[in-house]
Amino acid sequence: MRYFYVHWKHRIPEEPSRLWYEVADDNFQNRTIEFYTDGSVGFAIRGAALDGSEDIEIGGTRNSVEGFPDLTEINSDNQFEASEVNAVDFERRWSEALASRFRMTTGFTIAIDGPAGAGKGTLARRLADHYRLNLLDTGLTYRAVAHSLLRLGLPLDNVSAAETAARQVDLAKLDRAVLSAHAVGEAASKVAVIPSVRRILVDKQRDFAKTPPGAVLDGRDIGTVVCPDADVKLYVTASAEVRAKRRLDEIESIGGTANFDEILADIVRRDERDMGRMDSPLKPAADAHLLDTSEMAIEAAFLAARAIIDDVLAKRNEA
Ligand code: C5P
Repeated sequence: MRYFYVHWKHRIPEEPSRLWYEVADDNFQNRTIEFYTDGSVGFAIRGAALDGSEDIEIGGTRNSVEGFPDLTEINSDNQFEASEVNAVDFERRWSEALASRFRMTTGFTIAIDGPAGAGKGTLARRLADHYRLNLLDTGLTYRAVAHSLLRLGLPLDNVSAAETAARQVDLAKLDRAVLSAHAVGEAASKVAVIPSVRRILVDKQRDFAKTPPGAVLDGRDIGTVVCPDADVKLYVTASAEVRAKRRLDEIESIGGTANFDEILADIVRRDERDMGRMDSPLKPAADAHLLDTSEMAIEAAFLAARAIIDDVLAKRNEA
């Protein structure tokens, strides 16, 4: 199997587009060829524009009876710059290309749920970067409400104050540095049991998910409540002990000290509160893919998630 990267210099509308080609053999019968709305034809069998331009339509296909041109032939047309690449590079670019196709056409939502410390935040960030989607850590929205109440010295079960704080949450202004404090997380899980607060925040989260080109959202109820129609749902978990150890390592890595048993007790208590509440308890959606990161490094979890997502994208591509 040989892989080629072809940079198509044709400009739509301003940025250079990129096409990818995979060459299995010299005969392209039964392979697809890509058409574009401006009348251009890519002689790709697997091709997609990577620049995210909305003007590009990659859907139309027909079988090509042409052989794949050799590199010299492609490069003799100064619209193109082609080179052979390795399989790993090709696969990475191809998965980006598939994602870019859906960014261009339909938008794409990835829902990630799981308990605190399972690694879903890091995974969400890696996936949003890779697929170039917007990212929302919905935990920050509950933390923002809790933080407002703490700052005002109000009890965390003051429903009307919590509702007011929830209405004031601005997704563009969530300050992770301020909100990431452990005490704020604890308080967040208390305000998160108030149904009216959840409704207000969920509305904002849904609006965010709908904003082009689509988003990765992580939280506790994304696949079940916020985005029940998400294109991909992941439920990321790890044993409470592993999560407590990770938290301890994190604290120690920045020079802090903490007690493992206390952290573990905190995690177990937060799990119970999140899983046991009446409204939107933490649980995997029926159609979620489970990723247990207890024995898995973040890189392995990222690759596993990508395999799941690329599979969904590839099926759409064929549809
Ligand atoms: O994920 P993070 O630790 O920042 O979340 C803080 C708290 O916010 C969680 O313990 C949970 O109670 C609440 N939360 C929620 N629903 C979400 C995200 C977070 O109830 N989608």
